[in-house]
Amino acid sequence: MEHNPLLNGISVKEHDETRQGEAFGSNPATQLNVNAPANGKQFYVESYGCALNFNDSEIVATLLNKEGYGITTNYKEADLILINTCSIRENAEQKVRERLRQFKAVKKTRPETLIGVLGCMAERLKEKLLEQEQMVDLIVGPDAYRSLTELIQEAASGHKAVNVLLSREETYADISPTRLSSNGINGFVTIARGCNNMCSFCVVPYTRGRERSRDAYSIVAEATMLFNEGFRDITLLGQNVDSYHWQNEAEGSLSINFAQLLAMVAAISPDLRVRFSTSHPKDITDEVLYTMLAHENICKQIHLPAQSGNSEVLERMNRTYDREWYLQKFNRIKELIPECAVSTDIITGFCGETDEQHADTISMINYCKFDFSYHFKYSERSGTPAQKKFADDVPEEVKQQRLDEIIALCRFYAHEKNKAAVGQTFKVLIEGPSHKKVDGQLCGRNTQNQMIVFQGGQAQKGTYVHVKVTATTTGTLIGEIV
Ligand code: 5AD
Ligand code: SF4
Repeated sequence: MEHNPLLNGISVKEHDETRQGEAFGSNPATQLNVNAPANGKQFYVESYGCALNFNDSEIVATLLNKEGYGITTNYKEADLILINTCSIRENAEQKVRERLRQFKAVKKTRPETLIGVLGCMAERLKEKLLEQEQMVDLIVGPDAYRSLTELIQEAASGHKAVNVLLSREETYADISPTRLSSNGINGFVTIARGCNNMCSFCVVPYTRGRERSRDAYSIVAEATMLFNEGFRDITLLGQNVDSYHWQNEAEGSLSINFAQLLAMVAAISPDLRVRFSTSHPKDITDEVLYTMLAHENICKQIHLPAQSGNSEVLERMNRTYDREWYLQKFNRIKELIPECAVSTDIITGFCGETDEQHADTISMINYCKFDFSYHFKYSERSGTPAQKKFADDVPEEVKQQRLDEIIALCRFYAHEKNKAAVGQTFKVLIEGPSHKKVDGQLCGRNTQNQMIVFQGGQAQKGTYVHVKVTATTTGTLIGEIV
């Protein structure tokens, strides 16, 4: 398992091998407060899973920094090793356990090192994890990070420390995350925590609790601060951003929904691009689409997980929409915003999925021709409604075959999209040198989130240029500034 030392103490792990993209940059832009009352101790944090988890590690970094902790990129010299975990699929948990084995080896030479497990696995397994993973000292759930310093003290005095209380209020609204893994251009802002949907396959409602929307003004303040620091592309994060709803008790009846929040963030500056993820097909509204249309700087890109193209499977998944509903939402997006990129998540081999039902997913992909997609084999999670109600009865090799078929088809359409871009000119935000580090070559994204590589000349990172696409490989568009 590789660790990228460039990331100043945080290492970026793909959400899943089947994920085709990476939302994170890789240059260090850590802005730890150097005036912190240093206590001479250093922590190391490594994160797994979704962008929300990475953002949580940045909140943890701020909290620890306030207590005087410095950060290190080398876990072997850390006083405190933290691993922020994901439980969404079994293989995510396995990766964490493998990594824990390496961390525990440090204790042979430095027995005073503390090891803490944060995030979804901590929440799912609670004290049980202490029995399973001896030498872990701290277990901290996603809503308990404010208690970290007390827990560290408790662990340092030789007692195992656990706080996995979920909260109905905690949004960490007042904490400005320390940007650990960032190129200084793309920033992530969490707008809501938890999830009230009960998709039958999903462990998230149990590990991250009830949905809470964060104070809209604190979101705008954080996005403004990022803009002032040079960030130009901000993604608003939530399990289900469309159900964002913040009620301001101080201002009586004032309430802000997601479309209004989007408009508020977009108003910070026309030079600030705004993206959001994830949308739920049952909740995305025309108001959101019209808001996207009204603001050039709200990117024309929607991540709209379908999970399946078959209505019976969707019902067993408790997605609360059917195939027709999904296709109607898809059509509506394309009707109002024809250039909008739509991406999706798909699960193969969910309980009881037949060949015909899988064929419905294939036909949906053929209809939607997604710009981008993530695909997963169904992984049964203990305690979820699907685990209680249905048998995980699709054989592993069938799940794999269906996954392979879907990956090949989605790649084909993604490549078709890239070919269609050749000859077109896009407004591109420069993110920095191209990943291949060819002399003078820069890269950046268009509003649809396609990455384009081009010769930069005098163009500066964080500025916009118009780029005409001249060629494409399967993954990347190649162009020239016009
Ligand atoms: N098995 C496989 N994939 C899952 N996802 C969520 N739970 C599971 C599971 N038990 C996928 C869904 C979701 C994405 C974040 O992860 O597609 O949209
Ligand atoms: Fe899980 Fe469904 Fe909530 Fe997404 S919307 S986090 S899949 S329960």
